[in-house]
Amino acid sequence: MTLDTGMEKKLTSAEISAMRRSYGHEGMETLPADPFVAFANWLHEAHQSPLIIEANAMVLTTADHEGHLSSRTVLLKDVSQHGFTFFTSYSSRKGLAIHSQPQVTLLFPWYAQERQVIINGTAQQISRSETEEYFASRPWNSQIGAWASRQSAPLESRAELEERWKSAAEKWPEGSVVPTPPQWGGYRVMPTEIEFWQGRYSRLHDRLRYERARTYGQGGEKEGEWELSRYYP
Ligand SMILES: Cc1cc2nc3c(=O)[nH]c(=O)nc-3n(C[C@H](O)[C@H](O)[C@H](O)COP(=O)(O)O)c2cc1C
Repeated sequence: MTLDTGMEKKLTSAEISAMRRSYGHEGMETLPADPFVAFANWLHEAHQSPLIIEANAMVLTTADHEGHLSSRTVLLKDVSQHGFTFFTSYSSRKGLAIHSQPQVTLLFPWYAQERQVIINGTAQQISRSETEEYFASRPWNSQIGAWASRQSAPLESRAELEERWKSAAEKWPEGSVVPTPPQWGGYRVMPTEIEFWQGRYSRLHDRLRYERARTYGQGGEKEGEWELSRYYP
């Protein structure tokens, strides 16, 4: 690969260190008992905000079998009491990490609203039929893109990717039914913790976290009710 040696554009250390805003949003005394209701409200408000693009973009962090972490943005495509769903390649770096270590973190960075939601939970592949149903709803060029990309594998040149796209487009021309690539599919993250953070004045931010209580009874461990607690910001 050749590297570009163009002009440098740079902020000074003083400029970076002086980057701060004071937060002044209304706080939250409490939140609904059900964290999915609280999340639905905030996602709706983020989506309504003209300052937030891609309100459903979230940062997914995974750990591999040696404990090495990696993060990247993915798009939330569904949320329900069953969890938070996104789509990707099962053979990507994240897919391999989830295979060996299904515990993940999702982070919604809604900075324009001085908000953040962090979800810790366990990722599970969704059913093939759900994946196929969603894949069929995607635009044709995204479907072809999924066939063209060997996500996370080294790529010799951009031309190679475009070649792969062209040959997939010839195989399944626009208007035809594009099958779901075998390595492509959805994950659903079932949360164990969901934290809501709202920026407030003087750095006295609000930070409320739901944690799922575990109960032990006949038949072993069961997931219980959500408990909501406030934490120092
Ligand atoms: C706004 C945005 C949305 C993205 N959405 C997805 C997505 O839904 N699924 C996905 O596989 N990659 C998505 N990506 C690309 C990923 O961030 C990442 O580069 C890719 O999945 C490869 O990650 P990995 O090698 O760590 O597995 C998105 C990137 C951005 C910036």
